[in-house]
Amino acid sequence: MTKIGCSVEEIDTPALLIDLDVMERNIETMAERFRGMPSDLRPHVKTHKTPIIAHKQIEAGAIGVTCAKLGEAEVMAEAGIRSLLIANQIVGEPKVTRLMGLARHSDVIVAVEDSVNVRHLAEKAREKGVKLGVLIEVDVGNNRTGTLPGEPSLELAREVQKYSSLNLKGVMGYEGFCQFIPDMATKRVKTTEAMNKLVSSAHLLEGQGIEVEIVSGGGTGTHMITGNHPGVTEVEAGSYVVMDARYSTLEGLEDFGKALTVLSTVMSTSHEGKVICDAGLKTLTFEFGNPPIKGRPEMSYQRPNEEHGHIDVESGASVKLGEKIEIIPIHCCTNTNLYDAFHCIRDGHLEAIWRIQGRGRSQ
Ligand SMILES: Cc1ncc(COP(=O)(O)O)c(C=O)c1O
Repeated sequence: MTKIGCSVEEIDTPALLIDLDVMERNIETMAERFRGMPSDLRPHVKTHKTPIIAHKQIEAGAIGVTCAKLGEAEVMAEAGIRSLLIANQIVGEPKVTRLMGLARHSDVIVAVEDSVNVRHLAEKAREKGVKLGVLIEVDVGNNRTGTLPGEPSLELAREVQKYSSLNLKGVMGYEGFCQFIPDMATKRVKTTEAMNKLVSSAHLLEGQGIEVEIVSGGGTGTHMITGNHPGVTEVEAGSYVVMDARYSTLEGLEDFGKALTVLSTVMSTSHEGKVICDAGLKTLTFEFGNPPIKGRPEMSYQRPNEEHGHIDVESGASVKLGEKIEIIPIHCCTNTNLYDAFHCIRDGHLEAIWRIQGRGRSQ
């Protein structure tokens, strides 16, 4: 049984660790950056899905939170967070009904891209007696969701305005395709092009007398560009709070530390030149490649099985049976979703265990 105050070594594995000093520094670093930018930070909580971390981000200056899923938003509302942006479409009767319940207990804003969905939301909001905040999602080049920029966005905004049960708050557009462009100059050009599409759509609405309070976009990889783009009012960056092995390679993110690791035990040393650890597909994610091992350049994670990890060990290096290693997730958001709790570490000891309350809340 893992006890608060125990050393990292005593924590049973696999376990998801957060280095609290590093996470707290990341929160403060991003808050400080936004104090110097014209926009606000509304961090995406899909990264951690954990209310206490969201509260810390808000205490540091964030204006609310961004969620991917209704289930995440419900978890945040239950924990007392009032200002919620669901940067996603809510489609279908069960979810639309739940959304109206959530709207009674929070200031929830939802993205829309389709007039049939708008009518559904409006009719349900009227029936339930709530006024629902809405953003027009503009496809700024991500080729995922959203209306086309310009006239189609204006047309949908006019549609939203027909309903007194909806409150049109503005526009959002996520430039996901820019996040991982390695060269900063190219990223700046592509991100600026994308945000121009969003802001010009906002201006088109304003030109027709439609009030645009919110212009939302951005992520960890582009926050320094999007957050300074004239006309953008808020940024949805999420991963910065704990980072991961992929984001850490990018220019402009050097000030953010890797706070998240998976603690794993070496469970087999019977082969020459390799060991097996107890973290595989069910406790690590691999969509962007194999995860590195913290502070152990002589060890290289090669491939996972469900519950095993094959790790090559350089010749001459010694890795012992039962040794603990820390693996740095390659993608923090999907890795977090595999665990029930964060084991929170400071000075090599367990300070707290935080339940990842939004884990698996994908509906
Ligand atoms: C709508 C939306 N906004 C913002 C983000 C940015 O998140 P991150 O900072 O983790 O890259 C994402 C990431 O997928 C997203 O889907």
